[in-house]
This record gives sequence, C-alpha cells and structure tokens, in this order.
Amino acid sequence: MELKITCIPGDGIGPEIVAEAKKVLNKTAEKFGHNITYTDILMGGASIDVHGVPLTDEAIATAKSADAVLMGSIGGDTTTSPWYKLEPSLRPEAGLLKIRKELNLFANLRPAILYDELADACPLKEEISKAGFDMMIMRELTGGLYFGERKTVTEDGVRKAIDTLAYNEEEIRRIAIKGFDIARKRNKKVTSVDKANVLDSSRLWRAVVEEVAKDYPDVTLEHMLVDNCAMQLVKNPAQFDVILTENMFGDILSDEASMVTGSIGMLASASLNDSKFGLYEPSHGSAPDIAGKNIANPIATILSAAMMLRYTFDLDKEADAVEAAVKQVLKEGYRTIDIMSEGCKQVSCSEMGDLLAERI
Ligand code: IPM
Ligand code: MG
Repeated sequence: MELKITCIPGDGIGPEIVAEAKKVLNKTAEKFGHNITYTDILMGGASIDVHGVPLTDEAIATAKSADAVLMGSIGGDTTTSPWYKLEPSLRPEAGLLKIRKELNLFANLRPAILYDELADACPLKEEISKAGFDMMIMRELTGGLYFGERKTVTEDGVRKAIDTLAYNEEEIRRIAIKGFDIARKRNKKVTSVDKANVLDSSRLWRAVVEEVAKDYPDVTLEHMLVDNCAMQLVKNPAQFDVILTENMFGDILSDEASMVTGSIGMLASASLNDSKFGLYEPSHGSAPDIAGKNIANPIATILSAAMMLRYTFDLDKEADAVEAAVKQVLKEGYRTIDIMSEGCKQVSCSEMGDLLAERI
C-alpha cells in the first residue's frame, strides 16, 4: 500500500519525536510491504520564524493532499518566547486551530490508559489504581467556545470580553455518532459529559446524544455533569469507557485523564474528519525546556502513528505490531527519563526509537 503522509515536526521536542516515529513507521512499512512518502510542512513557531504566520495556505494545501498528517508539537514558553508577543491570531496555537478547522477535524480521540508496567506512576491511591483503566476521551474539536464569536469591547470606560459557546445539532450528531461507533468496538459504554443544569448548548447536546443513542441499543449511555466527571476521573476512573464531550470540557478533562495515568509521554491522539483523513499527534506539548537534549519520550508520537495506521489506513495488524513493540520494550525495562523508575534501564529519545523499531 502507498501511504502519503504530511509531517509537522513543529517546535520544541517536536522534530526529535517525529524522527523516532518515522523510524518506527519505516520499519513497519518494510516489514509489511508498504511504501511511505513523507512531505514536511512548517507550523507553529517554526512557521512564524520563516513566514511570519503560524500556518500558510500552501502548507494547508500540502496537508490536504496527503492521506494523513503526523505532528510532533507546536508552541514555546509563553512567558519568554517572542512568538507570544505577537497578536493572538499570529501565535503558534492559531496554526493548530486553523488546521483543525480547515481540515474539518471535528473528532478528537484521546486515549488514557494505565499501563501495567507504569502503574507506579499513577498518582492515585493503590486501592483505586489497582483496578486499572482504559478510556477514550472523544472531544468535539471544531466548535464551541474555541470557534464561537469573540470580541473585547469597552463600554462606558469598562473593558468587557465575550466568548460564545454555540453548537448546532449537526455538529453534535456527527461527533456523537463517532463516539458510539468507537464505543461499539470497545466496552460499549458512552458517558456523555455536559453542563445541562446550566447551559442551553449542553441541553441540546444531551437531547441530540439521546437521539443518536437510539441507533445503538447495544451501547449503554449515561450522562454526567462536567464538574462531577472531573471528580469521578480521580475517584473511579475504571468506570469510563468512552467519554463524549464538547471542545472546552474535552480540553480540560483530557489533560486531567492524562495526568491520572502519570505518564503523559505515553498518550497518543487522533483528530479525524468525516472520511479516513486524520491528524495524529501526541497528547503532550512541545516541552521547550528539554528540546534538543535527546531525552524526550517518543512513545506518545509513535503510538499516534499506530493510531494513524489503524484509523486512516485500516492497517490493524501493523498498528498492533507497533503497540506490541511498545509493551515489549516496557516489559524489558527500558524507560525514557520521564517514566524512569528504580531497576529500569534509562534510554534516550533516539535509543527508544531504535529499540521499538528493532521489535517490529
Ligand atoms: C490541546 C491544546 C490546544 C487546545 C491548545 C494548544 C490550543 O491544549 O490540543 O489540548 O486547547 O486545544
Ligand atoms: Mg489541551
């Protein structure tokens, strides 16, 4: 099979971790008889430095012409980087929001898994963590507060800022359908998270999710208020299978869920549109403090590449091989510094990539 991939190495540790993901993808392609072509584009600070904007139209066109996009991370230190002196629409994050919108990547999948080998890293009490957990946060990614009308005005000498949380039923329905489809392939439970006791947008969300649920009698649906969900994630994370939620709630809850695993360097993500196209990136950020030191954990990016094989290319066996290599390497005791524990062997970013590629 021909795999046409656009890469966004990005900023901070991005280029290092993308290089390792390519290493593992190349080995997988070699092993299973596929051919990959990569085209790199600039986004975020790397693009600002060259073009003055975080994402050019040419870069978007290149991304659109590929089957999938593999991204490292973008952005820098918000207090010291000159990128954050620019107006908001020219900062690194604006490039990310633009590519999500332009490519219609409305469905963001963020798995949060507690790996047996890394259970010690979980910050929860053992009586909670011993149950383990494996959840998928399905976050709506192109609507809500992030893309609603916003402005800052001065009224009678008083500054006032307005952000708008708007959803139409079609935007809710399409992410709900993806959520139920994915739940069907997992443990058949959807927890739809909203703030229906206060917000109109949440009341519509709940109503539309109920409608979609009628087509999935085999999937259990429950509703949960977002504040309660924040508590339940630390009280009893094992109760969750698929968490289905709007953009802002998903942003916050997915960070919380990743922290509860204790190993954010392991967590992948996929952002999908209506077809098979997707953008795949680690859940963590660009970690500018450790950039260029060859100590970052490339596993989240490598697992994102595995999600790409599975969701865009339908190459389940290949994706399984990558995921199995990760489990194998952990079992053998290799760790990057962020997940290092006593008795294990510490390796660099590129050594971790080599070890994984060897095990494909
Ligand atoms: C994320 C990030 C982005 C978001 C930022 C960088 C704009 O936090 O992908 O979760 O809020 O969506
Ligand atoms: Mg976030």
